[in-house]
Amino acid sequence: MAILVTGGAGYIGSHACLELLRAGHDLVVVDNLSNSHEESLRRVRELAGRDLVFHRADLRDAQAMERLLATGTIDAVMHFAGLKAVGESVEKPLEYWDNNVNGTLVLLAAMARHRVKRLVFSSSCTVYGAPASVPIRESFPLSAANPYGATKLTIEHILRDLHHADPAWSIGILRYFNPVGADPSGRIGEDPRGIPNNLVPYITQVAVGRLERLRIYGSDWPTRDGTGVRDYIHVTDLVLGHLQALEKLRAGPGIMTCNLGTGSGYSVLEMVRAFERVTGRTIPYELVGRRDGDIPEAWADPTRAKTDLGWSATRGLDEMCADSWRWQVNNPEGYGNSR
Ligand code: NAD
Ligand code: WQD
Repeated sequence: MAILVTGGAGYIGSHACLELLRAGHDLVVVDNLSNSHEESLRRVRELAGRDLVFHRADLRDAQAMERLLATGTIDAVMHFAGLKAVGESVEKPLEYWDNNVNGTLVLLAAMARHRVKRLVFSSSCTVYGAPASVPIRESFPLSAANPYGATKLTIEHILRDLHHADPAWSIGILRYFNPVGADPSGRIGEDPRGIPNNLVPYITQVAVGRLERLRIYGSDWPTRDGTGVRDYIHVTDLVLGHLQALEKLRAGPGIMTCNLGTGSGYSVLEMVRAFERVTGRTIPYELVGRRDGDIPEAWADPTRAKTDLGWSATRGLDEMCADSWRWQVNNPEGYGNSR
């Protein structure tokens, strides 16, 4: 298939591009590079041994979206583009609403005009808010604790309304748990700007000596060791779930919502220990107070993805740590000067 990948230069998008190319699909990537570097795509081409077409453009640029979809060659869209930093979304809500929701509306309008009606959307486990229990099923109540989460929830609503109005659409809403790891080549990976907000890039930057020590947010959570528990999923497993979703969309119209997680939770301390084991380095840390808005534990019930997509995660914790580490060690400054 010919696939338009929005946000394809980013962390998850670049890994998706690699696996899509490896699976034989033709790709057009659109990204405004607001949180990424074109170098990631150069490396994707090199790893896959195949080319892709890249357009530097913003989703909110209606003329650019029109041009991309008017070619009549696109069979499906994988929509990764969006802003994703929870704290920043609290400070800059208008930017998040505009970028994520308006960007998606402009994209969908161009798709509708040109009858491209297959879409895979990157949603997030953040739409479950503070779940009453674990594991989390897709039928759990939805809520948003911050503007970022609210944009994801809103886009999910828009997609359901769209499918209701025109059942010819084929839509996959994928709710990611905590993506980590990198392609085992160590050539592409997560390259956060500034100090990372998320646990794994923070740990790898401590391990490589870029940051002094990890601050563990809360050691008094009602969990097995007092630290927060999450469902970390290898980014390659995650993107392989998208390829399965694409096949499902191809089979016929409909709308489906699936968790993409492993079904297992690890605590912050377990993650630290796993990184120490895999890297042979000590990760200095201090226990500090809880982070605003955090929840004690979240992990997926991945049953639906298994039943409906025939997909489940296969990569374990050590592989996630080893691959995150290989990317960090080989690229201590991320894409650095190649930015
Ligand atoms: P990322 O920031 O690495 O990638 C997003 C890409 O979108 C970037 O390359 C950025 O430049 C691009 N982009 C942003 N706004 C754009 C716009 N208006 N027009 C064109 N390009 C734009 O993030 P990621 O971790 O790869 O996340 C991909 C998607 O998955 C996002 O929608 C994110 O919300 C979602 N998600 C991520 C996580 C996570 O923990 N990484 C978890 C759940 C869901
Ligand atoms: C994991 C655990 C922290 C950093 C976020 C978004 C969510 C989704 C996934 C996009 C927690 C602890 C972290 C640190 C720490 N993204 N921690 N020290 O909070 O599950 O979710 O990413 O959709 O929307 O909110 O991930 O990696 O930030 O935290 O102790 O320096 O690590 O308290 O228990 P989280 P995370």
